Amino acid sequence: MKITSEQFGITSAGDEVRLFSLTNNQGTEVKITNYGGIIAAIKVADREGKIDDVVLGHDTLEGFLNRSRYFGAVVGRYANRIAHGRFTLNGDSYSLATNNGANHLHGGLKGFDKVVWEARELSNGLQLEYLSKDGEEGYPGNVRATINYSLTPANELRIEYLATTDKETIINLTNHSYFNLAGEGTILRHELTLNADAFTPVDKGLIPTGEIRSVANTPMDFTSVAAVGARIGDDYEQLKFAGGYDHNFVLRGGAEELKQAATIYEPRCGRVMEVFTTQPGMQFYSGNFLDGSIVGKQGVPYVRHSGCCFEPQHFPDSPNHPEFPSTVLKPGEQYQHTTVYKFSVR
Ligand code: GLA
Repeated sequence: MKITSEQFGITSAGDEVRLFSLTNNQGTEVKITNYGGIIAAIKVADREGKIDDVVLGHDTLEGFLNRSRYFGAVVGRYANRIAHGRFTLNGDSYSLATNNGANHLHGGLKGFDKVVWEARELSNGLQLEYLSKDGEEGYPGNVRATINYSLTPANELRIEYLATTDKETIINLTNHSYFNLAGEGTILRHELTLNADAFTPVDKGLIPTGEIRSVANTPMDFTSVAAVGARIGDDYEQLKFAGGYDHNFVLRGGAEELKQAATIYEPRCGRVMEVFTTQPGMQFYSGNFLDGSIVGKQGVPYVRHSGCCFEPQHFPDSPNHPEFPSTVLKPGEQYQHTTVYKFSVR
């Protein structure tokens, strides 16, 4: 693996932002910026050897600064929603920034996707580090987060998430890349398998109700392969609430083990992506809020379903659901999760 870097731009606060490029011997290139830890590009061959960029985003730093839909970014401190931005920990109540109606979404007004991370080039990848101060966006504790990105000869983009705190807190980190394996058009004909027998239904505000519902006999069932768009218009309350898929799937397998979460295949170009993670859940989001108003790379407007996200995570709003796996991090503990996005062709 080879790593190079160039200047990407300067933020309004005067911080220099760099763009790193990781390449392997298969000709795969992953571009990552230390602004938001954003994966700005993944260029990978199709069945015929043609290289395309399979993630949405922008060509310039300004693009990412001005119109965040979390394209490619690290999401934290808490990925997804916390109802009313409120939770209690050891009897203390905390109030977080609310930025999604009445709720807290993806870390708040200035989450981990909008900060400049300290970057270090490693022999096998890139390390980003950020110190989130006690009280940031309302969260308790000084949290030191580290993200390690590496690209293997087997075309695996590996992301390791680490964090420590000096005061009991909550944490839930993920990546918000929007994938489109064809590099254009929508993802409706991509063929998807999810290793999930259940999901967490939501209310109209996309907050989990607490129920763990079987996917059986619902459009949420991707235990055998189905096109993403095949049932998206079905008259199913959950799809209507979200305008498509925007749900946390409960993954098969042990919470801490690295297990396969998803396989997605684009039949025309032959690209396949497999997702592996140590997380207990994964948000599958079909890009429902993209409405053509954001113009992305090479001047392409991102319309509805232009890309889809696989966000391995703990369940949304876990701090208010004691029945969900815990997202509490205590001083002296090490938060550690790994997600792998593996590319191949068929
Ligand atoms: C996540 C959420 C969606 C949406 C996107 C960002 O996937 O679950 O509801 O907020 O992020 O647009």
